[in-house]
Amino acid sequence: MRTVLIIDDNAGVREALALALSLRDIRPLAARDPAEGLALLEREPVDLVIQDMNFSADTTSGEEGVALFRAIRARHVDVPVVLLTAWTRLENAVELVKAGAADYLAKPWDDARLLATVENLLELAETGAELRRARKERRARKAALAARYALGDLVFEADATLRSLELACQVARSDVPVLVTGPNGSGKERIAEIIQANSSVKDGPFVTLNCGAIPADLVEAELFGAEAGAYTGAGKARAGKFEAADGGTLFLDEIGNLPPAGQVKLLRVLETGRFQRLGSNEERQVRVRIVSATNADLSAMIRAGTFRQDLYYRLNVIELELPPLARRPDDIVPLAEHFVGAQKKLDASAVRALQWHAWPGNVRELKNVMQRASLLSRGPSITAADLGLPSAQASEPEATVDKQAIEQALARSNGVVAQAAAELGLSRQALYRRMERLGISRPS
Ligand SMILES: Nc1ncnc2c1ncn2[C@@H]1O[C@H](COP(=O)(O)OP(=O)(O)OP(=O)(O)O)[C@@H](O)[C@H]1O
Ligand SMILES: [Mg+2]
Repeated sequence: MRTVLIIDDNAGVREALALALSLRDIRPLAARDPAEGLALLEREPVDLVIQDMNFSADTTSGEEGVALFRAIRARHVDVPVVLLTAWTRLENAVELVKAGAADYLAKPWDDARLLATVENLLELAETGAELRRARKERRARKAALAARYALGDLVFEADATLRSLELACQVARSDVPVLVTGPNGSGKERIAEIIQANSSVKDGPFVTLNCGAIPADLVEAELFGAEAGAYTGAGKARAGKFEAADGGTLFLDEIGNLPPAGQVKLLRVLETGRFQRLGSNEERQVRVRIVSATNADLSAMIRAGTFRQDLYYRLNVIELELPPLARRPDDIVPLAEHFVGAQKKLDASAVRALQWHAWPGNVRELKNVMQRASLLSRGPSITAADLGLPSAQASEPEATVDKQAIEQALARSNGVVAQAAAELGLSRQALYRRMERLGISRPS
């Protein structure tokens, strides 16, 4: 059962609150003063605290309430605290909300709003607990993966990345072809390297062929090699990528850009495992693990007739999708910290700017931004200004979540700030700051 602790010196207040809460199936606990409240908090499982700001009849400064809140916070980092305060003494409460109190209510309070606030905070706390559980589970999965597989210095925290990586490791050992899909700079080549590092050919070579970089008439020579004088401009005999990758992995990057002639040739070698150098009749056979990558929509290319369906099926036995960085936001800050190294820290403004940027260039863009920022920043920490993200200003939530949206959200939530904040995707503290700045007061 959900438990709420009421700390107030006024017996009438305690009784009224206890009654209102118990009607909602919430177990009320009551304490007369801070000492008793703190003692109860140690003894009982408490999901939320409602506390008064003044406890001695002759004080109205709110200092006792501030001290109590601090004492609760010091011992219980997560329990939401709602402050009860006189309208004339709002400043302390507002300050405490900025310092992490959940909400405040003015005395005399409105029962409906108070209960809505409490219900909401209890629900948020539950969600928070679930999130913490999920994070813990993710850590365990990550540790298990790192214990079993070679992950190099790949940095990741997001669930989506973890799932891609788990699949990559799982299929690494078999020799089925893997197609890695994802936008530019999302880390496709890193995934290919991890597949290689955990495969049965891990001690063999890792050979990359950028399919977008070879002219159509040189594709065959690139893939299979050529004998001396096999074509105009061919000098000495040379091996192609298939031979170079024998006993290892051939990484076919930008496979969507492989010219049609190359697609036919590649399909043939994938089907038979055999090929000939250009200008030679000698059949060669190699053992090569194929990993390909693309940022193109190959299905659309198949419909448009620019990519062979049969080749697609050959390459795409397992498809590994790497989402754009913006769709795995939990990776952003850990990656940023990784790229700046141990010498410098990111300050809060930098973290915010990083989280609000859309990252069209994905991890590569992030890497470049962080390298430049490390060079440009003067102090020990990197600020938003050092990052120089073009749209940092425009994409600030303050610009996008405007006054009207806030007022509407507050109206919908019956003035419950926690609920409005959740709806707007802001923290409570952030919403309070914004309300203050925009001169918005809660609807009554
Ligand atoms: N999870 C990660 N941890 C550490 N570094 C990463 C990670 N993902 C990507 N990088 C780095 O980001 C850069 C871009 O990654 P990568 O070259 O693998 O992307 P890509 O998807 O192959 O890009 P493109 O489509 O442009 O070829 C590289 O310098 C890579 O080392
Ligand atoms: Mg690449």
